[in-house]
Amino acid sequence: MKEQIEHLNKVITTLSAKTNEEVEALRIQYLSKKGEISELFNEFRNVPNDQKREVGQLLNKLRDSAQNKINDLKAALTDNNNNTEKIDLTRTPDTFPLGTRHPLSLVQNEIFDIFGRLGFVAAEGPEIEDDWHVFGALNFPPEHPARDMQDTFFIERNPDILLRTHTSSVQTRVMTTQKPPIRILCPGRVYRNEAISARAHCFFHQVEGLYIDKNVSFADLKQALLYFAKEMFGEQTEIRLRPSYFPFTEPSAEMDISCNLCGGKGCSFCKNTGWVEILGCGMVDPNVLENCGIDSKIYSGYAFGMGIERITNLKYQVKDLRMFSENDTRFLNQFQ
Ligand code: PHE
Repeated sequence: MKEQIEHLNKVITTLSAKTNEEVEALRIQYLSKKGEISELFNEFRNVPNDQKREVGQLLNKLRDSAQNKINDLKAALTDNNNNTEKIDLTRTPDTFPLGTRHPLSLVQNEIFDIFGRLGFVAAEGPEIEDDWHVFGALNFPPEHPARDMQDTFFIERNPDILLRTHTSSVQTRVMTTQKPPIRILCPGRVYRNEAISARAHCFFHQVEGLYIDKNVSFADLKQALLYFAKEMFGEQTEIRLRPSYFPFTEPSAEMDISCNLCGGKGCSFCKNTGWVEILGCGMVDPNVLENCGIDSKIYSGYAFGMGIERITNLKYQVKDLRMFSENDTRFLNQFQ
């Protein structure tokens, strides 16, 4: 009896089957009521009493391993079947849906391309800032209206922590940590407390530029901006600078470009003036340089800042600013 059990144990480990029918045939051969193992159980009563305990254990083990083997064979077959159904190596793959770049990213990249050719490199900073980096260092007097709750989102008061209202705060950070020559472009999201409408939002995006070196002049600024305008809006584009005021620049100017929709003849977009405003700029106020530890007797610099939404509108005529932040793919897919 023991030899029979041993023999069957060996046979069972070598069993294999290619179909469910074959597995079932094996089950019947070994485990059904009339199967070989069951026959051994029937003969068990003939085993001498002193061997019953040992043989009984061996028999139980044999039955268990036969049952496990049958289960394994079954499982292997169902796995294989599933796999052959899942993998069809001849099938053309599903196309991978390609996203599109956000129009603001497209325009920002283009701005970086153009100023990159003039040697400007990117500099970034935090959106949550302290008063000094956003206002104090940049020559805003304490009572300046931009510091008012109506314009600025405050996170904490005394000392003031706030959402930056312009990326000039990054310029402060670079001026206080690096030595001239400095030639940076600061991109990023900025926040202002405005009612949300088609023409205004409580956040938007800027790119601001700063160039500090020996002998930087207003002529350099004008030339860089003219180059930018022509590269961005076409060779025919003209610029004009109007005197303006910013606390951190002196003199300051706002720059218009000839309306790129009507070519300067006058249309509803440029309110019949032929010009549209695109950025603010000026020579860095010596106070700002000194606040940031740069010797204003040796160095001078220019700065400019523009809203990316505004430039994007000029290029693509997006009527409603809110479209930029709504994640509507019907809108976004148009910018391939
Ligand atoms: N920081 C100004 C703004 O947010 C733009 C600006 C930058 C103007 C640099 C002049 C010089 O409106």
